Parts: sequence; C-alpha cells; structure tokens
Amino acid sequence: MKDYIKKDNWQIIEDQFFPDYNEISESLFSLGNGKMGLRGNFEEDFSGKTLQGSYNAGIYYPDKTKVGWWKNGYPEYFAKVLNSCNWIGLSFNFGNEILDLNKCNIGFFKRSLNMEEGILYRQVKATTPNGVNFSIDTHRFTSMANDEIACLDYTLRLDNYKGQLNISAFLDFDIVNKDSNYDEKFWEEVAQSSTGNDSFVHARTLKTSFELGVSQSLAIYHNGSRLNANSHNTHSKYASNQYEVDINPGDEIRITKYVGFASSLYYAPEAIQEAATTIAHNAAQTGIEALLQAHKDEWKKIWDRCDIKIEGDVSAQQGIRFNIFHLMQTYTGSDSRLNIGPKGFTGEKYGGSTYWDTEAYCLPFYQSTAPANVANQLLKYRYNHLAKAIENAENLGFSDGAALYPMVTMNGEECHNEWEITFEEIHRNGAIAYAIYDNINYQDDDSYLTQGGLEVLIGIARFWAQRVNYSVDKEKYVMLGVTGPNEYENNVNNNWYTNYIARWCLKYTSQSIELVKTKYSSAYTRILELTQLKDQELTQWQDIVNNMYLPYDPERNIFLQQDGFLDKELNTVDALKPEDRPINQNWSWDRILRSVYIKQADVLQGLYFFEEDFDLDTIRSNFDFYEPRTVHESSLSPCVHSIQANLLGKKDKAYEMYLRTSRLDLDDYNNDTEDGLHITSMAGTWMSVVKGFGGMRIKNNALHFNPSLPESWQACEFHILFRGNKLSIRMEPSGTKVHLIEGDLKEVYLAGEKIML
Ligand code: BGC
Repeated sequence: MKDYIKKDNWQIIEDQFFPDYNEISESLFSLGNGKMGLRGNFEEDFSGKTLQGSYNAGIYYPDKTKVGWWKNGYPEYFAKVLNSCNWIGLSFNFGNEILDLNKCNIGFFKRSLNMEEGILYRQVKATTPNGVNFSIDTHRFTSMANDEIACLDYTLRLDNYKGQLNISAFLDFDIVNKDSNYDEKFWEEVAQSSTGNDSFVHARTLKTSFELGVSQSLAIYHNGSRLNANSHNTHSKYASNQYEVDINPGDEIRITKYVGFASSLYYAPEAIQEAATTIAHNAAQTGIEALLQAHKDEWKKIWDRCDIKIEGDVSAQQGIRFNIFHLMQTYTGSDSRLNIGPKGFTGEKYGGSTYWDTEAYCLPFYQSTAPANVANQLLKYRYNHLAKAIENAENLGFSDGAALYPMVTMNGEECHNEWEITFEEIHRNGAIAYAIYDNINYQDDDSYLTQGGLEVLIGIARFWAQRVNYSVDKEKYVMLGVTGPNEYENNVNNNWYTNYIARWCLKYTSQSIELVKTKYSSAYTRILELTQLKDQELTQWQDIVNNMYLPYDPERNIFLQQDGFLDKELNTVDALKPEDRPINQNWSWDRILRSVYIKQADVLQGLYFFEEDFDLDTIRSNFDFYEPRTVHESSLSPCVHSIQANLLGKKDKAYEMYLRTSRLDLDDYNNDTEDGLHITSMAGTWMSVVKGFGGMRIKNNALHFNPSLPESWQACEFHILFRGNKLSIRMEPSGTKVHLIEGDLKEVYLAGEKIML
C-alpha cells in the first residue's frame, strides 16, 4: 500500500517528487481519448526510473510466442499493443548541461490530474548541479473533442542563467516495447522530415504493416517573441526542430506543441503524411485555448451523464471518479475494431488485448453511462470475430460451426499460451453470450439477435454441446478438464460455474432462435441458411439442458466449485500469515493448486450473473462458504463480492470490498500499479456503487433500486442512462430520491415498491 497521493474530490495530486514511485505516478497520470493515450511521463530528459509509454489503439504487433514446452493448439503469436511515437519530447541544454530532473535539486514539485477537465499539469522549481535555478509549468491533454489531436503547453523560466539555451522539440518513433519477447523493435521507418516549425515521422509495424504518421506544429516564444527553428535534425524514425536562444536571468520560454495523428486504420498509407500534417496545422491555427475549451466541453458532457458524487468521504469520492475518468478515456465506442485492454493506455502488461473482462465487467458500465451505440460496438467486436472463433475451435478439434472465443485477443485470434487457460478457461465463451442477453435486457431491444447476435449464440452453443460428454456413471452430462474463473485451480472436472453458464447458453440460444423465428422471420431464414442449423441440434441442446451435472452439497447448501472441492483442507484466509500473502508471490504453484484458496469469484460469479435463479438463503450459504476462502488476488474479485455482500445486507463486508476495488491503483494495493492501471476492474468499482450500494437491477423489464448507503457516507448520487432516459439517484441516510432528468420513463422500483416518476 502507498499513501502519497493527496486526497481531493476532482484531482489526483502528487505534491512532492517521489523518484522511486515515478513509474507508479506515470500510470496514475495517464491520459487518453479512446484512440490514443500516454503515461504521465515528463516531457524533458529524465534519467531516473521511467517507462516511456505512448499507445495508439488498434495498432498491434504479433510477437512470436515464447513458451518453455510447446503444446499443440498454442497460438504462434501474442498480439501486443505497441508502444508508439513519443510525441511529447523536449530537450533543453544550457551551458553544456542537460535539464534532467533526476540530477537536480528539487525545491517544489506538483503533478496533478484534473479529472473534471481531463488535463495533466506539472509545476517544478529546481536547481541543476551547476546551480541554474529554473521552473517548469506545463499542461497537456489528448483531445476528447477530436481524437486525432494532442497538445502540450510548456513554460520554462530560467531565474539566474545567462548564456545560450538549445532546445530540441522532437518526435521519436525509435521505441521498444518493454514486454517484447525477443527484444526486437516493432516499428520500421517510412519517412521523417522537419522544416520550419514542423516535424513529421512516419513508421510502419513489422508483420502487421500498420502505419502511423505523427506530426508536430510548434509555437515557441522567448519572452513573448515568436522563435523560428534554427536547425533541424532528422534520422531514422526521429525528427526534431532545434532552437538556439540567448538567455538572460528571468527569461521565459513558452512552447506549445500541436500534434496530429493519422494511421492506416483511418487513412490510405499514401495519405498519412498530408493528413497528420494538416491535423497538426489546423490545431495550431485553432490555438490551444480553443482546443482546450472544446476538450473541456466534451468532458463536461461526459461527467453530466456519468458522475458519481460521494459526500462525506473524499477518499471514496476521488477513487470512484478516478475509475470513471480512466474508463471514459480508454474506450469511447467510436470504432468496433477497438476494445478495452486490462491496462488501457497506461502500460504494456497483458498486451493491451481483450479478455472476458470486457463482457463480464466493462459492458454494464458503458451500457449505463454512454449512448447505446457504445455498448453495441462491444458486441459487434465479438460478432466481427465470429469466423476466427470458429477457426479457433477447429484448431482445437471442434467442428460444424462451434465457436470458441479466445482467452486473449486483439483481432479475433487467440494470443494466450498456457494450456490450462488457453484450452481450459472456456467459461469466457459463456460471458460473451451473457453479454448479448445483458445488453438486450438493458436496452429492451432484441433486434441485435438479427444483426449477428444469434449467429454468435449458435456458435457458442455448438461449442458447449461438443465440449460436454455424457457420463454413464453419473447419467448426466459432465465437463472435464476446465479452469473456472478461479485460476488457482486448473484442469478440474465439473466447475459449477462453467457447467451452469454452458447450460444457460444452450437454453438462451434455443429461446433466442424461437424468438427470431416468430418475430423476425426473414432474418430467421437467412440465419438458418447461413449457420445450417439442424433440428437435431436443438433436441440435443435440450437434452443437455435437462441433464447437466451441477455439483452440489446439500448439507451445506452450496454449489461445489468443482468435483472433489470438499476433499481440500477447508481452511479460511484467516489461517494465512501476513508473509504468505499474496500467495501468488509467495507460494509455489503446486501449493496454490492444492490449497483451498480462491483467486476470485467463481461460484459467486455465477450467483452474481444468475441471481434471479436462486433464493437469498442459497446465495448467503455460498457467500459465507466461499468468501472467507477467497484471497481476491485478481482485481476483478472484490467488486462481485461487494455487490453480493450488499444484497445480503452485509454492509461492513460490502464496504471493505468496495474500498479494495476503488483505490486499488491510487493506493497501489497490489504493488503493481507501475505496470499500468487495472482498467477493466475499474468498471467493477462502478458496479459496486451502482449495483452494490444502489442495488440497481432490471427485473421483469423494470428498473429496480435497492439502496444501502455506507455508514461513512453522507450521500451518494449517481447517474444512469436507461432506454433513452437519464436518471439521477441520490441516496441519503434519510432516504433515496430518484430524479428523471430526461426521457419519459414512468416508473421505477425502490426497495421493491413501485414509484411513479
Ligand atoms: C484474471 C482473469 C482476467 C485477467 C485480465 C487475471 O488475473 O484471473 O479473470 O481476465 O486477469 O484482467
């Protein structure tokens, strides 16, 4: 745990320089706009601890898989989001000294992220080893109003220096990925140029041939007088404009960098240079003030529809806004080829690819906080990958249109390569089907079934039907050799969650086929033709639904996480010594696998998705059995527990779990924020408030709330978008108010009681 970030309702503040935590801060101070993002790196040279990171969504490289022991069926490549052009670069050299904060004596330092407006600020006062006193005042943003533009404004004041100052304002594409398997560089040069106050670099990814052009247009002033570049420096994947200035004590240099991005995702390769240059020029012409205003206006619109206010607890307030802010700047739904990597634009771990996190955790967030097309894009992403999911299943020996979605993917191809996860953690397929149901239910619009949804469901259902086998001994269908959401158990038989969701998929697919048949007959004919669906398949699915084996212990009224779970030594987490935790860093894998300890919600994940199928006693006995054995070593874990604890009236537990998820990164809870933020679990934090403390559910096609305000909060107010309506829900100790801000929704249920709006 760290406690160096100052608490504030709207800002993230580091008011002193902590060189050892710099990589953590760089993650926390990341910016993005759905299309690109960057870590909170310094603009000027820095020789201390840093991970320079800029990322452009959808641009990846398939790095050759590295594994110790190859298994048939492993993918050959792992697609990685690429660390891309460093566009913020500034270098200052005075009196043969390079400005490098790592070597300076720092008198004042403040880095702050204004989440309300999406702007990163930094102010520094320091002295160089040669005694030059200087101050830096800088701010930057990645425009939410125009996602091809980023801009920075940097003022350097030299208090006691007289002599020449050399400035280099550069774009550097000669970048390596920290997570490169073979230390290769992934970008090759296309072109670079620098004239006047502009520079341009253009590079292409190896193998995937994505091209990206980045252009900078500079406005540099010395005590208010505009400077022109004295020289230019270009070499492979690098371009800079250089300025020589005669400085007197007290002089001030102000640099505004307007940066334009154009990639082959949106432009023909031959049009990239002109596009990037025009974008940067137009930005410069518009000017930073107007660009900033448009950017702030965009953030205002976002916060108007999705802010959560927590009164009386600034730490919780900062935590929730931090989570919402990062989710909003990671994914905007503008392109169905993009998705939400577990680290977003804040680091390289997990390769920036898509996991089941998107469907199970992120979708509900975007459903309620953004226009409907944003959530729809996430579904479309998977529909677009259906053919690859079918191919993926074929590679593993499945046939006849069975689809297995990858554990980790960028473009639909599997990237993951640990047999116990790649081949066994197949519950992910269920989450993708569940997301279709969830979105249809939320939007009350089943037309998506005719726009790809049903084809995805059929592919998934076919997979489950082939993955189970009939056990003559049990006279039931069983599913052998799987890994459930709890990755601290591998190759188990009959993971309850997987069997349950598989059965549900078969049922839901059959119902959806029936619905499309009656409601959308021409689509039905087309889909039937396309999928070659046969009646026997439906009969077989029904047989599996009727006879799926679901391990259960009647004595404890609990579902068994898997066959034989009760053979374990049934310790609880209390029995662990502090030095054992986290067990994934302190124990051998063998010890973890044999132990009872659970990484993240598994049976409880199923009870969360399918809450309506179970009575409260059953949910309670499972919670009471499994939660004390859960170490929550996945960031996705606490939120599900927080929601369920609320449902069960366990207020303290709900709050404890909420705190763990809400400030996970701000307090560096798991000691890994330096690798990047836990973007997908941030959606879980949002769910803990809205579905947990707010108790939001859709039941029988109506919107329900079941508020339970944490004791330490004076009030909590959240906003949601629901079927064309915008609502605010304000919970106070004295009661809850639901306010219809827009739309014509007639009624909602509050603690089970119907109220008219
Ligand atoms: C979790 C997975 C999750 C992945 C990416 C793992 O630690 O166990 O459920 O998909 O992280 O967030």
